[in-house]
Amino acid sequence: LTVRAARLLRRADVIVYDALVNPVIVARARASATRIAVGKRAGEPGMAQTRINRLLITWSRQARVVVRLKGGDPFVFGRGGEEALALAHAGVRFRIVPGVTAALGAAAYAGIPLTQRELSSRVIIETGHASNESTPGSSCGETRVYYMPVAQLPEIVRRLLAQGVAASTPAALVESATQPQQRTLSAPLQQLPDVVRAAQVQGPALMIVGDVVRLREHTNWFEPRRSRTARRRPNSCDPMPRP
Ligand SMILES: C[S@@+](CC[C@H](N)C(=O)[O-])C[C@H]1O[C@@H](n2cnc3c(N)ncnc32)[C@H](O)[C@@H]1O
Repeated sequence: LTVRAARLLRRADVIVYDALVNPVIVARARASATRIAVGKRAGEPGMAQTRINRLLITWSRQARVVVRLKGGDPFVFGRGGEEALALAHAGVRFRIVPGVTAALGAAAYAGIPLTQRELSSRVIIETGHASNESTPGSSCGETRVYYMPVAQLPEIVRRLLAQGVAASTPAALVESATQPQQRTLSAPLQQLPDVVRAAQVQGPALMIVGDVVRLREHTNWFEPRRSRTARRRPNSCDPMPRP
């Protein structure tokens, strides 16, 4: 969360927020603020986008400060562009505050640098939705990050292999990144779907593919540290490791 976002949250009269927003962040708002949940989780219906747009326009005409709170960054697979356009067409003034998108949070907390001299000089961010054709490429010298990959994982991997990406390319699936329950599953690309199926992933997850995943062997700091903390404080109510 940026300092600016935190300040605006404290000023909000109304907060319209998504399912993946950490409740700790929503709790930063004033107790008197009206809180409206509109997000959907995979498999569950959420409010239709046109209804969310209308809601934002209506509240913006009634309240002084309306915060539309999204997980990560509003302009990365967040439909922030659609909402901003709807507000612009309705003549509602707005500001856009950037956030830490899941790819950056997951990379940092899984210990996978997205770029690294001599290994990767290009990052491709894609969605795993079926309708999306992958950007052709070799995966050599680049890192691919897939949002929403779990349901389509075998298909995404099949497409990458068909494009000539090596079956042995290191790949990782990061589940619930940056959360105390974060889990990273890594395997050569071709084996990742089986590993993920066996692990029964429940939380939001994204996939990172590229040679940089190998570096995690040396830079995986969060998950081991969390297990050490849990061992030291078996009865603690606070699962988050302290800095
Ligand atoms: C609709 S997209 C929203 C992305 C968001 N706007 C962002 O910038 O991170 C939701 C997808 O983001 C990814 N995601 C969000 N939070 C995540 C987390 N904590 N760990 C792993 N992936 C996450 C998952 O791929 C999830 O299916």
